[in-house]
Amino acid sequence: MVETRTVLAGAPDGGEPAKLAVHTIGQGPLAVLIHGFPLDHRMWLDVMHSELNKRRTLCAIDLRGHGQSPWRGDETHTMERLADDVAAVIDSLSTVPVDVCGLSMGGYVAFALHARHRERIRSLVLTNTRAAADTDAQRAARDTSMQTVQTSGRSAVADAMLPKLLGPDASDTQRAQLREMIESVPVASIVADQRGLQQRKDRRPELASITIPTLVIAGDQDVIIPPAEAELMAREIPNAQLHVVTGTGHMSPMENATAWSSAVTTLWT
Ligand code: MLT
Repeated sequence: MVETRTVLAGAPDGGEPAKLAVHTIGQGPLAVLIHGFPLDHRMWLDVMHSELNKRRTLCAIDLRGHGQSPWRGDETHTMERLADDVAAVIDSLSTVPVDVCGLSMGGYVAFALHARHRERIRSLVLTNTRAAADTDAQRAARDTSMQTVQTSGRSAVADAMLPKLLGPDASDTQRAQLREMIESVPVASIVADQRGLQQRKDRRPELASITIPTLVIAGDQDVIIPPAEAELMAREIPNAQLHVVTGTGHMSPMENATAWSSAVTTLWT
């Protein structure tokens, strides 16, 4: 059964700590799962109920302002701030380095975690994510998206994102689950994410310094981060393997949790 608890992540300015809801299931060493934008831990539920929970204690985090973690009033969710929150979760649940897995925005957070808290990470799963920063066109598209959510609400964001998030074989249930997640995130938190995503660093120069075991996973139908880009990233990371989950789009762990989890067993032996 999934167990939920709250971890407090202190603020460097001495202000109110963030209250982070974390959801765990399984046994053995800790593995943290970091969701994408603008989602929450529920995107990992099928993975959490897969064979992986016999190998790891799986801990899916609701990043601040998502799922059951309240928005804390931040105007910008920088990847560094979110990474410090993940470090606080790791510190509260483990005394040894842990396996870290991030999807898309969760992958950007994993890169920031590696840059700031490398000693807390034992291995990395980078799924449906990229190392590059936004292009000017992507930043402009985020400006438009921020206006859309502020004027037309979260359902408009869900309408715009859903066709890109899922591959053609995804089910109506998966579509409905994603819509439910997107529509439950406060508008201010979606805007704070977008600002953080716009500002995120180009991590490509750091790829060669990632020397821990790493698995890069892509979806062959991913239109947000095409598999060719994931392949290039994997080549730059010294100990990385690449796995492509066929028949899936940007949400490969949701779209085919069995195939995705089976790929991860090659890393989490
Ligand atoms: C995500 O899935 O987290 C987003 O597609 C990330 C992004 O907008 O760059």
